[in-house]
Amino acid sequence: MDKVLARGSGNPAARPRARTALTLAVAGVAVVAATVTVASSASAGTTLGSAAAESGRYFGTAVAAYKLSDSTYVGILNREFNMVTPENEMKWDATEPSQNQFNYTNADRIVSHAQANGMRVRGHALAWHSQQPGWAQSLSGAALRSAMTNHVTQVATHYKGKIYAWDVVNEAFADGGTGARRDSNLQRTGDDWIEVAFRAARTADPGAKLCYNDYNTDGQNAKSNAVYAMVQDFKARGVPIDCVGFQSHFNSASPVPSDYQANLQRFANLGVDVQITELDIEGSGTTQADNYGRVVRACLAVSRCTGITVWGIRDSDSWRASGTPLLFDGSGNKKPAYTSVLNALNGGGTPPPTTAPPTTTPATTAPPTTPPPSGNGCTGSLTLNQWQGGFVTYVRVTAGANPINGWNVVLTLPGGATITNTWSAQPSGTTGTVNFRNLDYNGSIAPGQSTEFGFQGTGVGPSGTATCSVR
Ligand code: XIL
Repeated sequence: MDKVLARGSGNPAARPRARTALTLAVAGVAVVAATVTVASSASAGTTLGSAAAESGRYFGTAVAAYKLSDSTYVGILNREFNMVTPENEMKWDATEPSQNQFNYTNADRIVSHAQANGMRVRGHALAWHSQQPGWAQSLSGAALRSAMTNHVTQVATHYKGKIYAWDVVNEAFADGGTGARRDSNLQRTGDDWIEVAFRAARTADPGAKLCYNDYNTDGQNAKSNAVYAMVQDFKARGVPIDCVGFQSHFNSASPVPSDYQANLQRFANLGVDVQITELDIEGSGTTQADNYGRVVRACLAVSRCTGITVWGIRDSDSWRASGTPLLFDGSGNKKPAYTSVLNALNGGGTPPPTTAPPTTTPATTAPPTTPPPSGNGCTGSLTLNQWQGGFVTYVRVTAGANPINGWNVVLTLPGGATITNTWSAQPSGTTGTVNFRNLDYNGSIAPGQSTEFGFQGTGVGPSGTATCSVR
């Protein structure tokens, strides 16, 4: 892969998890927080996947089917990750080695492993100039166009209902300052090849999010501007696109751009999700760890950044192993970069509001003086962060005198309020009376201990207490 230099580094601001009650007066709306919330180790994720899930995001890795018999590899995979991307097994050369003869053996192994272990799957990639089978490389014109459409349709149909998001088209734009499409056999079939691929994918699997994925688009530059214009055009014309993937392969020649977060945000503002799809950062020690932390915090600060995938597990699994760009060393030990990522995920688990947040300085309050509830069951106390037109509500679920292994919190939203995003709980709906259930990892709470979930919405949010019951 040829790479051009990206811009210099910067330090995107993290948005800290709210740990205190807030008293806010914004644009005439005065809101007083109902209770105090305090950080609790019960709500800090101890693995990448559980820490990301605290804010409703996923943490994934590229997986190679042939490594699923390596127990160290699988041990880390199953412990740490809740999303997988087949590294090569879903590419055109792997899935359709001869025209119209499909081979899903290795990709199916990865999908089965994911499903058996509660992980979701990013499909990668349906239409791409690279890793095409020989027969496709030698096609052109209408024959190639119909072969591509058939490929997209067949593969997306085979995996219908099993894919969280598809990289429908990969790397279709040229590097450098032109903003042009990359020359390829697919591009020579006509500019509309990309939208044709997206429409075919939507028809085949209407439930999958459909992404455009590329590299050297991580900061604002001519190439990302061209992708931006395409997404804007697709949204305007109703071409089905749901997300943009940012590969994020970084090294000293192509560092984390200083405007990484701003670039993710401008795409999100077009009405698509953004995902970090192939993250790896060459280097070692503190420098590498800091760069990883910055990338994670940038995603956490963009509410439509739905998850992060690293491109392999151990350094030795990497497609560029000599740069030691991953989170685990060749023996499977956690590197400083791992700790940096985990800390960033745990420290910034609150999605920011999609409308302007309050600009007043939060008032600090004393730590809670109320003793934990006695008796059975659980209690739910709400802390509201309200601004003009939107809100974030944090719900602290506290166990009574006995341990609990699952909880339900029921609360009623004021009229006109709609939830747009929930983290660390499963909501039953978005308006009116909503039932929030624990996720797998945060159902168990020791006596007197607590965990926290939250949701963001438009309108006026709820405050006070909520009905909590044990499941
Ligand atoms: C890479 C794989 O990691 C390698 O195993 C393979 O030899 C080449 O492809 N951008 C992409 C990925 O979208 O599919 C590439 O994966 C890395 C660059």
